[in-house]
Amino acid sequence: MADTTFAGRRALVTGAARGIGAATAALLARRGAEVVVADIDGAEAEETAAQLCAEGLAARAVACDVTREDDIARLEAVLAGGLDILVNNAAILDATPADRLIRARFTQVQAVNQNAALWVTLAMRPLLAASTRARVVNIASIQGLRGTADTLAYSTAKGGVVNMTRALAVDLAPEGILVNCICPGFVDTRMALLPDGSGHEHDTDWFRDIYIRYGRIPLRRAALPDDIAAAIAFFCGDDCRYITGQVLAVDGGVTATF
Ligand SMILES: NC(=O)c1ccc[n+]([C@@H]2O[C@H](COP(=O)([O-])OP(=O)(O)OC[C@H]3O[C@@H](n4cnc5c(N)ncnc54)[C@H](O)[C@@H]3O)[C@@H](O)[C@H]2O)c1
Repeated sequence: MADTTFAGRRALVTGAARGIGAATAALLARRGAEVVVADIDGAEAEETAAQLCAEGLAARAVACDVTREDDIARLEAVLAGGLDILVNNAAILDATPADRLIRARFTQVQAVNQNAALWVTLAMRPLLAASTRARVVNIASIQGLRGTADTLAYSTAKGGVVNMTRALAVDLAPEGILVNCICPGFVDTRMALLPDGSGHEHDTDWFRDIYIRYGRIPLRRAALPDDIAAAIAFFCGDDCRYITGQVLAVDGGVTATF
């Protein structure tokens, strides 16, 4: 029997052309939601939405840079019929060492990875407020909870998303909009490709030794995008009804240890 958990609900997932966003859009659609696949990569967003439509699901792509006000306004127009679920997932990786970090790059990373989640949420607020089951899920990172080398710009933004979630949850609670945050650990997506083009971080000897063999990830594997999507879907659904402003690490136990 088809899963109809999200039947009759509309969802917007940013950065949904691939990776965790695509897995989330697919899961919500398979559970009955009508999904907007928004991404700066319009061609890949079209492909992702087309694959879902080929499965008989309700999906449409919107090319959109979440840092641009005019693109957010276009999203609002597309969603004028209503919105129940917003997943702020779009982000870029940055691994610039502190001594090479320049202001323009730092500002760009904050704009995409943190500020856009705020402006998209505030733009969608009236639509969400009109829903009786409005949910916002912000995707941060375990790098928003801990400090690691060469992640100043990325970690600052993700740490901002963590506490922005709490502040938004308080401000939007009177409208019945629940706002929560997922912090993924190491996930097998294109974001985990090494910047020098030499392959996937999770295939390196050091990753296999430290994180898998010696159990720095207690569950001893990297996550699949579906592992993260499952937790996101929980925060989007009716079983999440008295939870807001919370932060959940979905990391195989990485942040449970040291
Ligand atoms: N992969 C990991 O190990 C990992 C770990 C922790 C957190 N995360 C977070 O999970 C989320 C998804 O990451 P992913 O691993 O699927 O990465 P990904 O690079 O595979 O996907 C990110 C998507 O965001 C889109 N995007 C980037 N800038 C955008 C913009 N300005 N406007 C609209 N779309 C934009 C990209 O085109 C891409 O489709 C991100 O917030 C990321 O920071 C990922």
